Amino acid sequence: MIQRIDAWTQFKLRCRLAREIFAFWSLSLRHNASIATDRSLNKTQNTLLREAHVIEKGLSLRHPRRGFGQGKILALLRNIDRYLATYPEADKDFILYPLSVVGSYIAHSTKTGSFNADIATHFKQLVARIDADFSAIQSGVKEVTRDQLHANCNSGFESLLFSRHSIRYFAAATPARDLIQKALRLAQQTPSACNRQGWRTHVFHGESCNRMAIWHGGASGFEDEVRCCILVTGDMNAFLLHEIHQVYIDGGMYAMNLVNALHSTGLGTIPLSCGFFHDKLSALKTVFDIPSNEVPILIVGVGYLEDRFRVAVSARKPIHVTNTYH
Ligand SMILES: Cc1cc2nc3c(=O)[nH]c(=O)nc-3n(C[C@H](O)[C@H](O)[C@H](O)COP(=O)(O)O)c2cc1C
Repeated sequence: MIQRIDAWTQFKLRCRLAREIFAFWSLSLRHNASIATDRSLNKTQNTLLREAHVIEKGLSLRHPRRGFGQGKILALLRNIDRYLATYPEADKDFILYPLSVVGSYIAHSTKTGSFNADIATHFKQLVARIDADFSAIQSGVKEVTRDQLHANCNSGFESLLFSRHSIRYFAAATPARDLIQKALRLAQQTPSACNRQGWRTHVFHGESCNRMAIWHGGASGFEDEVRCCILVTGDMNAFLLHEIHQVYIDGGMYAMNLVNALHSTGLGTIPLSCGFFHDKLSALKTVFDIPSNEVPILIVGVGYLEDRFRVAVSARKPIHVTNTYH
């Protein structure tokens, strides 16, 4: 039988929720990368990674805009200067990846006739300053073929993981419903806390998909490429007060499985973040008709693969950086 909760208990639960939210507020004030960024080596490094990746992403579009991102590159180079000045003892090798992205950008802009001398001079100065050796660094974009990807996307777990990439341009056709259905059925195998399966999906095609990609903004420069948007949400009705973040955890696990499942069917995907302020997210209810008990987890842009396409290299950190044995 479902227990009725008396008024006093209801009141205590509301206070408990306020304490949880306050605890998260305090944690965010200390550790969020937007706050006091310059005072933390870790936050600064993450900021540089993000700024470098934005450039890599730009290079992976079907037609990168001529001369795109010059302002962002100059800002990145200034931030690298500041990093070296603020943290003279810090790992100089960390700079290799962002610098190497700038190198890839310079190679691209030289080829496309949009060479910027200020960027090239600043880059050379930094390379000389840290005596950079890029031999072990991969950055920029690489070419992938549909045949290669199809040979690997469903032949084993390892090759599935290594053959998946975020793809930012697709063939013109809309993905067939039976492929989407298959991926949804596969992703349904995601484990969840107490098997509540609190995820939901909303599939958009055509005009509504395009509207969603434009509203999103993180698909800037490739909004028209996304042929189908699958919005993954989490149902807050499935979770209790002691687990207010669980909706994002279960939803995130589901979203990852959905991305891999779509990839296993041979479709291409681009995950699009739902990390926005709540006032922007309110459009999901008012414009896209998403129930208010559902919080957005991820938009997965989907499409068929072109014969050949470029993807960002998106090099991974070595596991000794992200793992601690206890
Ligand atoms: C939660 C999440 C949000 C993302 N948001 C965007 C986005 O808004 N725009 C974009 O172009 N790529 C986005 N990406 C793709 C990442 O840039 C990409 O996953 C990362 O660089 C690793 O590359 P890979 O997916 O090719 O392995 C997102 C990925 C994730 C997981």
